[in-house]
Amino acid sequence: MAKKELDWSNIGFTYIPTDYRYVSNFKDGKWDDGEITTDSKVVLSEDSGVLHYAQECFEGLKAYETKDGKIVTFRPDLNASRMKDSAARLEMPQFPEERFLKAVEEVVAANKDWVPPYGSGATLYIRPVMFATGNVIGVKPADEYQFRIFCTPVGPYFKGGAKPIVVKISDFDRAAPHGTGNIKAGLNYAMSLHAIVTAHEEGFAENVYLDAESRTYIEETGGANIIFVTKDGGLVVPKSHTDSILPSITRRSIVTVARDILGLNVEERPVKLSEVENFTEMGLCGTAAVISPVGKINDHGKEICFASGMDEMGPVIKKLYDTLTGIQMGSVEAPEGWIHEI
Ligand code: PLP
Ligand code: COI
Repeated sequence: MAKKELDWSNIGFTYIPTDYRYVSNFKDGKWDDGEITTDSKVVLSEDSGVLHYAQECFEGLKAYETKDGKIVTFRPDLNASRMKDSAARLEMPQFPEERFLKAVEEVVAANKDWVPPYGSGATLYIRPVMFATGNVIGVKPADEYQFRIFCTPVGPYFKGGAKPIVVKISDFDRAAPHGTGNIKAGLNYAMSLHAIVTAHEEGFAENVYLDAESRTYIEETGGANIIFVTKDGGLVVPKSHTDSILPSITRRSIVTVARDILGLNVEERPVKLSEVENFTEMGLCGTAAVISPVGKINDHGKEICFASGMDEMGPVIKKLYDTLTGIQMGSVEAPEGWIHEI
C-alpha cells in the first residue's frame, strides 16, 4: 500500500483520524484480549467515572520513518512504565507493559501508510489513553475501564517550527506540591486550559509554571519540560523538590545525550526564576515540542531575553536537537534499547 496523500510538510499539530486504533476493555477484574478496530467512537454511560471524577490518564509518543525507510518508535517502554505509574496514582488498573508495547506495534503497523515520510518534518503521534467507563456516583474508582491507542500524523507543536517562541510566567498554578503533576493525567491539562487560552490571547506561545508552594522555582510549561544552557555551555534541568514536574521522556533522553554523547556538564537541580537571566539558552522539551527554543520569557512585563535571540536556536540547543532527532530518525547511532523497529 502507498502512503496517504497528505501535504506532509504543512500539517499542524491537529487530529487527523487514521484508519485503525487499538482497544481493550477492563471488566470483572481483567483486561480482554484487545483488538485493532476502525471504530473511532467511544460510547459511555452518563455515569461513567471519567465524566465525573476525571479518572483518566494518557501517553504520547511518536513513530518515525528513518532515513533507510524503516518505521520506528522511540523508547516506548518508558511510556508503558509511566502510564503504569499514572494508573496506579489514579486507582486505575494497570495495562501490562508488554501488552502496551505490543499494542503500540500493532496500531502503528496497521497505520503504516500514515507515517509521514522521512524528511517531511512530520511524524506519527501515538496517543494511548485509559479512562473509567464504569458507573460511579459516590466518589470512588470505577470498576470498568477502556485502554485505547490511536494515531494522528502531526507537524510542529508550535507555529513556526523551530523558530524561538516567547513564553510568560503564569499567574496560575499547574500542580500542587505532592499532587498529580508527576503523572500524565488529563486533570492536569484541564486546569491549564484557561491559562493557555489567556496566554495565547496575550500573544505568548506557552506558560511557564512556578512551584505552587513558594512561586520561586521554575517547574515546566503546560505541555513540556524546560532545559537551560549556562554561559559555559552546560545544561541545567529544573528539578522539583515537591515532585510536581512530569518526568519527561524527552528530557531524560536529552540528559543522557548531553552527558554521554556530547560530553556536556549537566546539572539537575531546583532552578529559581531569579537566576534564569544568567542562562544563555532555553528550550521546551517533550514528545510534541521536541526541543522548541525560547527566545524570551515575559515575567509580568519584565522581559528576560536569552542571548540566543529570536531568530534561531542557540548553538547548544541546536546540537542537542540535531543529536536527539538524529537518533530518532536513524542518522545518529542510538543508545542500546532506545529504538524499536516496527
Ligand atoms: N510535561 C508535560 C506537562 C507534558 O504534557 C509533556 C508531554 O508529554 C511533557 C512534559 C514531555 O514529556 P515527554 O517528553 O515524555 O513527552
Ligand atoms: C506530548 O508531548 O506527548 C504531550 O502529551 C503534550 C501535549 C501538549 C500534546
